[in-house]
Amino acid sequence: MASFEPRVFSGIQPSGNLHLGNYLGAITKFVDLQSSYNCIFCVVDMHAITVWQDPEGLIRRTREVTAGFLASGIDPEKHIVFNQSQVPAHAQLAWVFNCVARMGWLSRMTQFKDKAGKNRENVSSGLFAYPNLMSADILVYKATHVPVGEDQKQHLELARDTAQKFNIDYAERIAQLGYGVDNIDRDVTTDPELVFFPQPEPLIGGPAPRVMSLRDGGKKMSSSDASDKARINMTDDADTISQKIRKAKTDPEALPSEVAGLEGRAEASNLVGIYAALSGLSKDDVLKEHGGSEFSKFKPALVELSLSKLSPITSEMRRLMDDPGHIDAVLKKGAEKADAIASPILDQVKDIVGFIR
Ligand code: AMP
Ligand code: TRP
Repeated sequence: MASFEPRVFSGIQPSGNLHLGNYLGAITKFVDLQSSYNCIFCVVDMHAITVWQDPEGLIRRTREVTAGFLASGIDPEKHIVFNQSQVPAHAQLAWVFNCVARMGWLSRMTQFKDKAGKNRENVSSGLFAYPNLMSADILVYKATHVPVGEDQKQHLELARDTAQKFNIDYAERIAQLGYGVDNIDRDVTTDPELVFFPQPEPLIGGPAPRVMSLRDGGKKMSSSDASDKARINMTDDADTISQKIRKAKTDPEALPSEVAGLEGRAEASNLVGIYAALSGLSKDDVLKEHGGSEFSKFKPALVELSLSKLSPITSEMRRLMDDPGHIDAVLKKGAEKADAIASPILDQVKDIVGFIR
């Protein structure tokens, strides 16, 4: 039997404001991938509730992330855009994976350690099992490529390990039922010849794999940062964006003329990186143009570029947000298309595991 059909899956949590890090690190890549893959983009509301979400806020932010997808150029007709909780197969496969992935694997996840901190006894059990739901998101479509920021690399490795363990544990049954696909990645010492799940590959990189906070170049830009000045939200108006960039932390030196000169200058490097990503230039090219400039000159250039790139998107987002009925209809239709792919795969998983249906 032939190998897996290429398919892209990725998800964004509706747990905070959509910000420039999400846009440059994830959404612009999603937009580009549409021309070469069949894509599924999911607003992962079930992941969001691993930490407390105010219900009305969750509804609003689910629509906001969807609006961000559409406003940035994701085409819900050619591809699939939906919210996770509308397709029950995600939760159902996640349960099976709760029983495949090992406690030790999950305990090593740095995102869990960071989010739980010293409060381990009191965080939800969903926060611990979170990576299994993420594996299910991807594998319930047998997706082969997963565009994410660098912070998600470890979760992708866990998804690969889970897929592999499932393939090995159930190898005999998969072959017996005729559900196997030729294992082109085969490791002859461990892997079976026929597999059910692919090994999903992370697509990391792109123009800005890690956009940093505007207040602290050592921290990533995040919706959970207590200071709103640390990030540019996709719903910020022009004045706010411009003020945040003007007030961004920098150092007293002028910009260097080569990338090597950014070493040890996290804030400067970040602003140059944002400029590069927004303009589609390399950091080298940005420095060829702006090397030697003081920040008092570079920041206004960055403001102008940011507004010219972001304003059309933010205003389209606001327009879409004014018509929640339309957004909800897009999500519903997307969920139906997603379910049509996921349900037959889940049915085969049930047969493999030994669930009567
Ligand atoms: P999250 O908001 O954590 O659900 O992240 C959604 C997507 O945006 C994931 O692919 C993240 O890796 C990516 N992302 C989040 N924050 C950043 C950042 N500061 N820089 C680059 N990518 C990011
Ligand atoms: N965990 C991802 C994040 O926080 C979001 C996510 C959930 C995801 N399921 C996914 C990303 C599946 C890629 C594929 O950013």
